[in-house]
This record gives sequence, C-alpha cells and structure tokens, in this order.
Amino acid sequence: MIEIKNLSKTFTLKGQNIDAVRDVSLTIQDGDVYGVIGYSGAGKSTLVRCINLLETPDSGSLRVNDSDLITFENGKLLYGASRTPMKEKQLNAMRRSIGMIFQHFNLLDRSTVFDNVAYPLKYSGMNRKEIKDRVHEMLQLVDLTDKRDAYPSQLSGGQKQRVAIARALANHPKILLSDEATSALDPDATESILALLRHLNEKLGLTIIAITHEMAVIKSICRHVAVMEDGRVVEEGNVYDVFAHPKQDITKHFVASASALNRVDKLLHDDSPLVQVQPGELLVKLLFSRDSVGDSVISQISRDFNVSINIVLASVEVLEGSPLGGMIAIFKGTEENMHGALDWMKAHHVEVEVLRRG
Ligand SMILES: Nc1ncnc2c1ncn2[C@@H]1O[C@H](COP(=O)(O)OP(=O)(O)O)[C@@H](O)[C@H]1O
Ligand SMILES: [Mg+2]
Repeated sequence: MIEIKNLSKTFTLKGQNIDAVRDVSLTIQDGDVYGVIGYSGAGKSTLVRCINLLETPDSGSLRVNDSDLITFENGKLLYGASRTPMKEKQLNAMRRSIGMIFQHFNLLDRSTVFDNVAYPLKYSGMNRKEIKDRVHEMLQLVDLTDKRDAYPSQLSGGQKQRVAIARALANHPKILLSDEATSALDPDATESILALLRHLNEKLGLTIIAITHEMAVIKSICRHVAVMEDGRVVEEGNVYDVFAHPKQDITKHFVASASALNRVDKLLHDDSPLVQVQPGELLVKLLFSRDSVGDSVISQISRDFNVSINIVLASVEVLEGSPLGGMIAIFKGTEENMHGALDWMKAHHVEVEVLRRG
C-alpha cells in the first residue's frame, strides 16, 4: 500500500514560489492500477517523483509497501516513530523497491539492450551469471529476447519503452511509476505498451501508478483515478464513478474530450443539417451509465410515450465491464409525451439535457 498524507512541494525559481504539489493525500492499494490525470503543469510528475523520493517533499508523510512512516520536515526525511533522519542506505533501498518509466525512455544510448537492463543490477550484489539470468528473464517478460544485442537507436519507440520496462522491473519492485510512458508513442505502440502494463499488473500483481494527460490511458488500464489541477487532487475515486458522474469542470472536460458525443458542439456551431429541429421536436443529449442501459431505455420511451427517436450520434463504451456513454437524438411527439419521456428517463438515472427546441 502507498499512503500519501498532506504532501506538499514548492519550488523556488528566480525568487518565485511555485507550489507544484499542494496538500495531496492519496491511498493506493497493492495490486491496483492507479491513474493520475491532469494538464501539463498540474504537478503530476512532481507528485510521483515524491513517491520514490527523487524529489524531497517539504511537508507531509509517506508510507510505501511495508516501510515505516516517512515524515518530511524542512527538507529532512524522518524515518519511523523515532523520527530518525533517513540514511542513504534506506533511501537507496526504498528507491530500488520502486521502478519508474518515462515518456522519453531515458535509455543509455551507447549501451546494448542487455546492458541497459543489467544496469540497475550492478549494485545489487548479484554475480555475473545471476545478472545474465535476470536480464534474460526480464527480456522474456517484455518479449524482446531477440534484441538483446541491439542498441536503442536500432529500436522502435515501443521497443525502447519495453527495454525501459524490463530495466525498471529488473530489481523486482512491487511498484511501477509510469510518467507519460505512452505519450511519445504512436497509437499501435501505445496499445501494445498498455497491454503489457495490464499483463504485468495481472501476472505479477505489480502496483502501477500511471501519470498521464490522456483519457485513453486511464480508460484502458486504470481502476482508480485522481484528477490533478494546479497542484491539488480535485477529484478521486474508481474510474467508472469518476467518469460516469464527473463533478469538477476539469473532469468534465477530460470526459468530454474522449467522447464522440463531443462532436455535437461542432455540429451545433456549424448549424449542420443533422442537428436541425422542426417545430415540435427536441434535440437532446442523453448520458447513460450502468444504472440505465441505453437500448432498453430507448425502446421503452418510444413504446410507452409514443415518441419517435432519431439518433444523431451515439457512443457507448465499456469501462470496468460496465457500459458508459450516451447519445444525441431528435425526439418527436406531442409536448406532453415528450415531457413524460424526459421525466421517465431522469427517474431512471439517465442524464438528460435539451440542446435545442424546435
Ligand atoms: N525542478 C523544478 N524547478 C522549478 N519548478 C519546477 C520544477 N519541476 C517542476 N516545476 C514546476 O512545478 C509545476 C508542476 O510541474 P510538473 O510536476 O512537472 O507537472 P506535470 O507533470 O503535471 O506537467 C510546474 O509549474 C513546473 O514548472
Ligand atoms: Mg509531467
């Protein structure tokens, strides 16, 4: 488990204070895939760098795996109930227990794939044979055994990230921090790296913290998510609940950015024929969640309220095994029936918004 409590980190740059992380508290369970999403500059990288102590927080506390509590005070790291200053050895052991991967891979360009993966094992006390076996095991895990003698420049972006993952896991950490690991990759390579991370989570029980500005990453692999804005966590919970019922504007933005329904704004703006309504018609946006499955709702209202429904746009996806999505449709019927249909849907957990009235 990772417990972060009231963590803050301020940088000073040219006499100006930048509060990169402000009073963040999060708990991440073992074996979870936990996403942190936010725009550039939100403080995501600083937050993860505080977890493996690449960055020293100014205040707050942290507990990682079964370690004692680490408390931060005026740039000091105090360990355990006795609050003794943390020793270099403890710090290194803790860093080794957490792997990390980056957007630009951070490989050693002049070293082969083998040497890149072997690098973190140098100071582990393993002998040459053990290192060779471990590197082989890691390259098998990421499906790159045939590239052991290649140099990074001879690899695709996706292959480079696989090498970085093998290196990050060489010490068998329980936690992997991923800082925008797929942001520099094309869609195919992104999908294959996300599939690998999912596999590692399931096969090894690896806890993954995935920092990203892309909703697709969160939807693809995360079970929980925190939304960061201006150094703070503004919304947090399981992925389905956060995305089905976003509360903060920024979360709504992220949800909208990933939905095909968003195209309706452009259609409205362009006054497309698709969104023209005649007198007696309504253009409505419906959002469904697991409490209100789309199909049965539509057939029910057209039957019970005698409302005809012309679907303009629809997008339903499956998140954590449950459907989530919605549609833009034109309703046609008597005033009374249409109101009846809208009220019925609201009572059945469909979010309803009337975009245009004819
Ligand atoms: N080493 C540093 N020195 C000064 N300011 C920094 C440093 N690292 C990050 N920052 C600032 O802290 C804020 C958060 O940065 P960062 O954690 O990298 O955000 P994100 O990863 O969400 O893009 C930004 O305003 C950034 O400019
Ligand atoms: Mg960053």
